[in-house]
Amino acid sequence: MKHPYAHYRPLFPVLASKIHLASCSQGAISKTVSESIEAYMNSLLTAGGNWNQAKKVVEQAKYSFAKLIGAEPNEIAVLCSVSDIFSAIASSLSFEKGKNIIVTTDMDFPTAGHVWLAQEKFGAKVRFIPSQQGVIPLEYYERYVTSDTLVTSISHVCYYNGFKQDLKAIADIVHRKGSLLFVDAYQSAGQVPIDVKKMDIDILAAGTRKYLLGIPGISFLYIKAELAEKWKPRVTGWFGQEDHSKFNVHQIIPAAGTRRFETGTPSFISAYAAAAAIRLLLEIGVENISSYLNLLTQFALDYGQEKGLHTVTPLSAHKRGGITAFYVKNAGQIESILKERNIIVSARNDVIRIAPHFYNTQDDIRQAIDELTTVLTANK
Ligand SMILES: Cc1ncc(COP(=O)(O)O)c(C=O)c1O
Repeated sequence: MKHPYAHYRPLFPVLASKIHLASCSQGAISKTVSESIEAYMNSLLTAGGNWNQAKKVVEQAKYSFAKLIGAEPNEIAVLCSVSDIFSAIASSLSFEKGKNIIVTTDMDFPTAGHVWLAQEKFGAKVRFIPSQQGVIPLEYYERYVTSDTLVTSISHVCYYNGFKQDLKAIADIVHRKGSLLFVDAYQSAGQVPIDVKKMDIDILAAGTRKYLLGIPGISFLYIKAELAEKWKPRVTGWFGQEDHSKFNVHQIIPAAGTRRFETGTPSFISAYAAAAAIRLLLEIGVENISSYLNLLTQFALDYGQEKGLHTVTPLSAHKRGGITAFYVKNAGQIESILKERNIIVSARNDVIRIAPHFYNTQDDIRQAIDELTTVLTANK
């Protein structure tokens, strides 16, 4: 298979010495991201302070993320982590009797369960949709989301096996029942096309460490403009105010749009990384990345099965993102052995996840699967 993005490979120094297939955990860092981080540091080292410039870069990062998901920039806020976003949303809700159910799934990242369960103290009740052989059947949303559901909180792409959900179809169901749709897009943003308007998503969260090719410390929250302005967040601070430069300690005047969900000074260094990283993704185009990753994932599944590996990833292309998970006992130990052999993959419980990005080749995957099967045979 021809690699359409071969000319980008020199931009990622790690690829010179390693096979990097762990975008579901930490994407490879490009020289442009590294230069952007250096620019931040240099401005501190040489100019002493860089407040206004750093705030501009945060705005650039928001603007780029908004473009990536088809939102308006004023519908985006920056927080530190996706977990922080869950808490910011959860603490803005009131759980009235008759409208206090939070529906989530057993395929969501644990943070979803943790934050929602923590709200039971305030009147929420959490209902988990059980998965069936590595997927959540669409009809389960008809069954589990009821008129007393306040929020349906789901992942776009599942961190464990790459299962991808049909967000528009789910939005139609949950909206008909009067529930909001909150999407954790940490495993899809940057690799799967997202259009929050067409998909009719109310709230969406994504961090920058994985397919967005940045570093930890910043995450993006999207809330539909008309919805954000109905809320007065209880997790708040000076960055969430209409004008933080007024230093008004006596009053809360929430900012227009989703910015009201911001709290304090963001991680500027992570924003510099994010702005450069998302610029590159926009240049290539997520549609293009997604089409290429589809081919690589199909190859990973076919080749892995040919080598006798068992996958827990859905076989049909429209039900998966770019993650292929193979069932492996002692996955953490196998991940470490492969790392010693310069192959970076990512373990979760009982699976090894192979998660390429546009910079990977088919040969990267072949070599990783060959080495994985060699290690498994030797460790039988
Ligand atoms: C789907 C998903 N959601 C949330 C998280 C947690 O993100 P954070 O550490 O930014 O809270 C992860 C981390 O791996 C994830 O994969």
